[in-house]
Order: sequence, then C-alpha cells, then structure tokens
Amino acid sequence: MKINVLKNYKELSSTVADIVETQIKKHPLSKLCLPTGSTPLGMYDELVNKKLDWKSVITFNLDVYLMNITRPQSYQSYMRKNLFDRTNIYPDHYHFPFRPFSAFEDKIKGSKGIDLCILGIGTNGHIAFNEPGSSFKSRTRVVNLSEQTIKDNSRFFDSVDDVPTQAITMGLETIMESKKIILMANGDHKLNILNVAMNGEVTEDVPASILQNHKNVKVYYSD
Ligand code: GLP
Repeated sequence: MKINVLKNYKELSSTVADIVETQIKKHPLSKLCLPTGSTPLGMYDELVNKKLDWKSVITFNLDVYLMNITRPQSYQSYMRKNLFDRTNIYPDHYHFPFRPFSAFEDKIKGSKGIDLCILGIGTNGHIAFNEPGSSFKSRTRVVNLSEQTIKDNSRFFDSVDDVPTQAITMGLETIMESKKIILMANGDHKLNILNVAMNGEVTEDVPASILQNHKNVKVYYSD
C-alpha cells in the first residue's frame, strides 16, 4: 500500500482536515468515525479554524477508556475539549461506544454506516484499541490494554499505574465497514510499524494490516 509522506506535522494535519472538510461540505449529513491520541490534535485545530457547519454531522468515536469519564484524560473529555465544544455539533449527534454494544453497533448501522473513518496507529500496530491478536471479525467490546499501549499512553497520565487497563473499542470488522478510511501517523517511532502493517503480511498479530483488505484507504505519514 502507498504511504503518502508529507513534509511535516502541520501538513499532515491540514491534509486530513481538508479531507474531512470536503466530506462535510459535500455531504452535510456525513457520519464520521473519529480518533483520539496526540496525532489528530493538529487536525482538530485545523478543523475548528475552518468554522464548518457541523449541525447535521453525526460522529462515532473509535474507543474509550474504562475510567471516570469526567477526568481530563478520558476520551470523552478529550473530544469535547479539542473538537465538540469548539463546533456547533449537537451533543446528541456525537457518540462514544456504549452498552449494550449491540445497540451502539445498531446506531452506526441505523445511520447507514460510517462514511469516513479517521484512524491513528499504535506502536504495536493497534487501531482504535484493537490490540495484537484481536480477531479480524471483532466488533465493539471490552478489551484489556497491552503493556506496550499502557506504557505508550502513560505520558497522558500522572504515572503508568494511573493508566486504565481496560477500554471499549469498535471492532476491526466494525471499522472495516466504513466506506472510506484515512490512517494518519506522525513521528519516526511509527514508521517501522506503518511499513509492516501496510506492506507486510495481513495478520491478526498486526491489527492495522487488515486495512490492506479495504478498497478505499489512504495513509498519510509525517516524521
Ligand atoms: C491510542 C488510541 C488509538 C490511537 C493511538 C495512537 O491508543 N486508542 O486510537 O491511534 O493511541 O496514539 P498517538 O497518536 O498518541 O500516538
């Protein structure tokens, strides 16, 4: 698969923000699937600055930690702070994975599916919180986070012991049903896993490698 290499983080952020802008302007009723982590922060800033009309847009977040959602590290807090509270999206139009998971999945299907899904990638090849070994047939569920992910994400918490050990994530099959997928990755430390995932064997040991089986995926990288 082609990895589109961009000049820097700014260009990565603006390239993906432009894709989201085009999607929303062409289809105001778009259903988006959104990521968290440090990589999409610049893209969210760019999107906010575009002052788009979000009133008909519906979003589904990829994953959430199992933790107190009022804490600043929760993905619910992250999304409100970095995007939702800075746009005119209706609070009942954005969704985080919820129980029963079948109802969350039905909500996605009921809205005719996800038009555009933006993904990041973990250093162990995870997408959303689908850790190595996740079934390609997986759907929304509770997962245990790997040691590597807990270590990587500890930079957002007071200490490694403060990082939740479990999360709820959309499954790989759920993600693959999106009509269009963009994977964004930033930094040297992501280059190796990106190459393995996009051009190596398609295997459940590298969850992101499933994207090789999708017809409409674009991958953007900056160092
Ligand atoms: C977390 C998220 C993923 C994200 C990954 C990479 O584990 N659950 O959705 O892609 O981190 O994050 P970062 O962009 O901070 O490297």
